[in-house]
Amino acid sequence: MSADTLHHNSSLLLVILLYLLFFFLLLLLPVSTRASKMDFIEAQNSKLDVQEIIQQRAVLHTDRVSYRPRLPAILKGIFRIEELESTESLSDPEVCQSLFPNIFGQPRVRLVMNKGSQSESTVRTLTGRKLRVGVVFSGGPAPGGHNILTGLFDFLKRRNEDSELVGFLGGPSGIVDKRYSDITNEQLDHYRNLGGFHFLGTGRTKIETAEQLQSSLKTCKDLALDGLVIVGGDDSNTNAAVLAEYFQAHQCATRVIGVPKTIDGDLRNEDIEASFGFDTATKVYSNQVANLCLDAISALKAYHFVRVMGRDASHITLEVALQTHPNLAFISEEVAHGQATTLTDIVNEITQLIVERAKLSKQYGVILIPEGLVSFVPDMKKLIEELNELLAARKEESAIDPSNFDASVLSSPSQQLYHSLPEFILRQMMAERDPHGNVQVAAIETERLLAHMVRQRLDQLAKQKLFTGKFTFVSHYFGYEGRCAYPSKFDCDYCYTLGATAAALIEQQKTGMIASVRNLDKFPHDWIVGGTPLTAMVHIERRKGKNKPVIKKKLVDLNDSPFLVFKKMRNSWMLTDDYRVPGPPQLSGNCEEVRNFTIMLEAETKRKSNTPK
Ligand code: FBP
Repeated sequence: MSADTLHHNSSLLLVILLYLLFFFLLLLLPVSTRASKMDFIEAQNSKLDVQEIIQQRAVLHTDRVSYRPRLPAILKGIFRIEELESTESLSDPEVCQSLFPNIFGQPRVRLVMNKGSQSESTVRTLTGRKLRVGVVFSGGPAPGGHNILTGLFDFLKRRNEDSELVGFLGGPSGIVDKRYSDITNEQLDHYRNLGGFHFLGTGRTKIETAEQLQSSLKTCKDLALDGLVIVGGDDSNTNAAVLAEYFQAHQCATRVIGVPKTIDGDLRNEDIEASFGFDTATKVYSNQVANLCLDAISALKAYHFVRVMGRDASHITLEVALQTHPNLAFISEEVAHGQATTLTDIVNEITQLIVERAKLSKQYGVILIPEGLVSFVPDMKKLIEELNELLAARKEESAIDPSNFDASVLSSPSQQLYHSLPEFILRQMMAERDPHGNVQVAAIETERLLAHMVRQRLDQLAKQKLFTGKFTFVSHYFGYEGRCAYPSKFDCDYCYTLGATAAALIEQQKTGMIASVRNLDKFPHDWIVGGTPLTAMVHIERRKGKNKPVIKKKLVDLNDSPFLVFKKMRNSWMLTDDYRVPGPPQLSGNCEEVRNFTIMLEAETKRKSNTPK
């Protein structure tokens, strides 16, 4: 055989092998991926009208509803409740005990496997008590909410086919006004693993007056509810504690269980490792911020001032900064304890960055601003506190109009600051508080304020020939875009597990607790589930001009690993554009299990502190 023929034959063999490998790999592709690709090819080849496709649901929507979230094995088996140590409140135990005499001091609980058979068939034939459970969404939406409903529903039905789930419509006011709907499997199937709270709707009504409490009790009695699940943040779960206490005091059989929801990530403690929605929302914002970073470095013409949601806490900003490496990111909690004591100090810090970058011919960049920053800068904080007291003292709930406001009632430093602020900011700062007495920071355009002030400062420097560059800015606010996104795989599984845990606690007749799932840095199989008494998370806080018991928010801990890692790295992001691009959240593929850095770093700290030295 000649060398040529040999070469020809081996090339042929190689081609055949490559073909075989290709078909083999094709077989390994998930069926759904192949199906949607085939649909696309068929649509291309057939006479299918594109307008017909436009009328149909998006392919990803259809893919998502068929995902089956993972549950820790214990929730599929036969378990019992183990009581751990009893609890107190975080502060003022006597005051809290007097306010919550019926639910105060309960022990934490954990679900543990019952010894004996755990086979699938035993579980399938296991009949729990028939239960009727109500559920309500409270506060802002967060990705994964619909999986709380499916987790609850599937658990209840698995234990007893006759159990029922009732959804209150439009938030807590749905309980007061008895607006509800019985939930069916057919309905829920349209919402599995999808974003939004729109199946039931949500609202921010606080159930606090005697009439509201009585109406809520009547609703739960009329509907013969064994349990009520309140899906909410710190304020909504404080409300859950109030309702649980009220129901117990009035011999109402309805048990109240809270579920930790909020994109802000501030409903967190030893037992609650994460509030649901934070993982997805931070992935969505990180994707958007990274895209802006790439635009900045491509177009080379503007600074992007990006305010990110999160209310008081800066967890979202911190996570997004770790994910994307912006040129500058403020952390409100650091500002509150740092050297910057005035808004002008913050403006000077940004200005300095712009001047330094201009020296390198960089007239662009990305700056992250946490939503709550204004209420942490000491001089602004004081002004807001004074305005809060004035608003609380007024009879009417409405905003104060800056044009009719006599600022001489303020302390003299606050007066000075007040007069230096633009009209649009004053109007936003003096707007109506939310029903829980919070300043509506979502409406305060800090990013615009800072950018305007920076421009003024740069103009002054330019006159003194200390700045010769150009300054163009674009302001952004990322918040609502992330709250109803398709939940990440983590949030799909986490919410499904939280829903099932809440149902399990009701089945075990627990009340005044919040569903807790721990070990979240691990796979769902290894998650530990249980309940924490709501009163164990309560402290006394000033609200609407009065001291009130509320669930304590977790702010960014300046001694904990997420902040320390950020602090170590951030200087290197200022002048060199070391942007990082994490991309959007994925439900399958190599990135499907990626957790946010906050969970991973906190878990790492815990692991290290538990490792024997
Ligand atoms: P929750 O605390 O109710 O989960 O809402 C969080 C949040 O998204 C904050 O980040 C934001 O400040 C606020 O809601 C916006 O409120 P609204 O929906 O009333 O505009």
